[in-house]
Amino acid sequence: MRIDIVTIFPEYLEPLNVSLVGKARARGQLDVRLHGLREHTTDVHRTVDDSPYGGGPGMVMKPEPWSAALDGVVASARPEDGPAPTLVVPTPSGRPFTQELAHELAERPWLAFAPARYEGIDRRVIEDAADRMPVVEVSIGDYVLAGGEVAVLVIVEAVARLLPGVLGNAESHQDDSFAPGRMADLLEGPVYTKPAEWRARPVPEVLLSGNHAKIARWRRDQAFARTLAMRPDLVARWERAAMDKHDLRALAALGVEWDEPSGRFRQSADGVEE
Ligand code: ADE
Repeated sequence: MRIDIVTIFPEYLEPLNVSLVGKARARGQLDVRLHGLREHTTDVHRTVDDSPYGGGPGMVMKPEPWSAALDGVVASARPEDGPAPTLVVPTPSGRPFTQELAHELAERPWLAFAPARYEGIDRRVIEDAADRMPVVEVSIGDYVLAGGEVAVLVIVEAVARLLPGVLGNAESHQDDSFAPGRMADLLEGPVYTKPAEWRARPVPEVLLSGNHAKIARWRRDQAFARTLAMRPDLVARWERAAMDKHDLRALAALGVEWDEPSGRFRQSADGVEE
């Protein structure tokens, strides 16, 4: 996968040289290219922002440096990249970033990122780009960062680990929280390693039993309990077809039942509510 990132702080993206993403780059699985937005200014002060039309606090990023930078990225297309990248614009007013969106982006051969500082980028840049390439505005959460660079790091890391060959088999993402399939909308439960007893705390015995069916059952029960405690909003997304009779029994013990009229699982009134 090719990734181009246009930013006024290329140094903010140094972590892309480290660990999983750094290794994927070294192996040639990920081709990351950083572009300084200020390289595309034409004035002596290398200005990238200006005051907002209509007034208000803060500054808005000027369109000309962005269009020049993005035109340069598109012009550098190689045959294997496709005609244009999918442009990802991090913004708190974007579509929520989820594991599903990470999978969607991981399918694309070429991504470009336009992280903003200040109050954001002049809207016409996004509209102009959308005439030439797919554009997705993405929020990594309901909070406001000082700029989009950290969001880029988050999105690139989540996408990179889904690319074929980037994670070893031993670290497969099949069991991730939110992974599609049997673990959809379930949080992963606790994990343990050696020693079997530490500070008088033993590892749960079932994990030492060697009984794989029993261990899988225990892990799933833990995932149900964890999800109920941390993210009760996810319960309504669980699908009846994803549950077998053992699951239903485990859920009943946690106060969760299938509600036929609504077609959803829900916590019964006498359930374990906070
Ligand atoms: N830029 C500022 N805040 C952001 C957020 N929550 N998600 C993505 N980009 C952002």
